[in-house]
Amino acid sequence: MAKVKTTFFCQNCGSQYAKWQGQCIACKEWNTIVEEVIQKTEKNDWKTSDNKVKRVSKPLKIQDIDSTQESRLNTYDNEFNRVLGGGLVPGSLTLLGGEPGIGKSTLLLQIALKLPYKTLYVSGEESQKQIKMRAERINTNENNCFILTETKTQNIFKQIEALEPDIVVVDSIQTLHSDYIESSSGSISQIKECTTELIKFAKETATPVILIGHITKDGNIAGPKILEHMVDTVLQFEGDRNHVFRILRANKNRFGSTNELGIYEMQGSGLREVSNPSEILISKKDEELSGNAIAATLEGMRPLMIEVQALVSTAVYGTPQRSATGFNAKRLNMLLAVLEKRAGFRLGTKDVFLNITGGITVDDPAIDLAVVAAILSSNEDVALQRDFCFAAEVGLSGEIRPIQRVEQRILEAEKLGFSTIFVSKYNKIALKNTAIKIQLISKIEDLVGFVV
Ligand code: TYD
Ligand code: MG
Repeated sequence: MAKVKTTFFCQNCGSQYAKWQGQCIACKEWNTIVEEVIQKTEKNDWKTSDNKVKRVSKPLKIQDIDSTQESRLNTYDNEFNRVLGGGLVPGSLTLLGGEPGIGKSTLLLQIALKLPYKTLYVSGEESQKQIKMRAERINTNENNCFILTETKTQNIFKQIEALEPDIVVVDSIQTLHSDYIESSSGSISQIKECTTELIKFAKETATPVILIGHITKDGNIAGPKILEHMVDTVLQFEGDRNHVFRILRANKNRFGSTNELGIYEMQGSGLREVSNPSEILISKKDEELSGNAIAATLEGMRPLMIEVQALVSTAVYGTPQRSATGFNAKRLNMLLAVLEKRAGFRLGTKDVFLNITGGITVDDPAIDLAVVAAILSSNEDVALQRDFCFAAEVGLSGEIRPIQRVEQRILEAEKLGFSTIFVSKYNKIALKNTAIKIQLISKIEDLVGFVV
């Protein structure tokens, strides 16, 4: 009997070792090295029959490289296109990660069903019937999408050769396994091998491949970090499962910016593209309520108006509670200290709760001023005018600091019908004749006059 070949892999970084050891030399993690069975049989190519002429790469001068080749494939989903940087690049590998149940399979199936190109959707997770049921919910009639339930890469490539699809979607990389490696699906060596085979296929045939990847409990894509190095684009699908909004962002993009953001709304019939997020995130109430303020933030390149709600009440217990949803709790404490010290508000004995509506987490510092305004408004129990909005960072000495791309925010606020936007005096603004009033302030005390 042939001897079973095994190797040791670090489950964190994918480094390979000849024998077991406690710590990985490459990434310094402890207890991550695991034995995996590998049995390399003689390996040819992703192709089962070698009847096609292989492209052989030759060195070329940069000006001689034909860039029209990189014309992108439209995915017919504006948000997805935007995050990719304008569409799928032929021959690229895209990895979509996200928590279980967030909607990765729904998103890709929905896109696959909308595409006019011949699409192959390979699923190792669900049966064809289950996918059909999902597709019925999404409800698209005309499509050119083929569903294959298979986990062995060699069989997948056989089907690909017969079908010659323009786009391949794989759900998920952790379920695939290759005959060339004997360890179980989802192990480091299998993930590496299957991805390598898919990359080879993608590059040789200029077919874009989209992979779904599971993530671990700390939010990283399961498998070795190298998986992220191997693919061209890493997308993250995130959001609170209990909220309807889902955000798609690029963590890595070889063909575009990582600043772009796609927003979807999960509905009973699949995901809906949200093209004007500000209008949805701001609750349309006629009543003016205390503790609400609107921030003009930027998510990636897109301006986003977000409602901030604060509740300030007398502490029932000895230690006042501070809690923030969608906002950094440490930053909230800092802003409260600034308010106490610079504006003389006695908040030390008050409970303060802060909530960013829509289940969105914001890390744009420009939201500070809206947070402060919401807290002041709740503390004094005086409602802010509904058509005020805020965009500035607050510094430790109570100064109102300038922020980036303020003009874009002002224009968005104007478009949505706000009457006044509060920004820092130190921001350079070249806009003239705006319908919206630009209120320049330099200190937190200046705000107090307007708000309470
Ligand atoms: P799914 O795409 O299976 O998630 P993932 O592949 O990331 O694990 O997402 C399924 C969730 O989305 C599930 O909880 C039900 C919900 N859903 C809808 O609300 N509407 C729909 O039309 C579909 C298809 C799913
Ligand atoms: Mg899924």
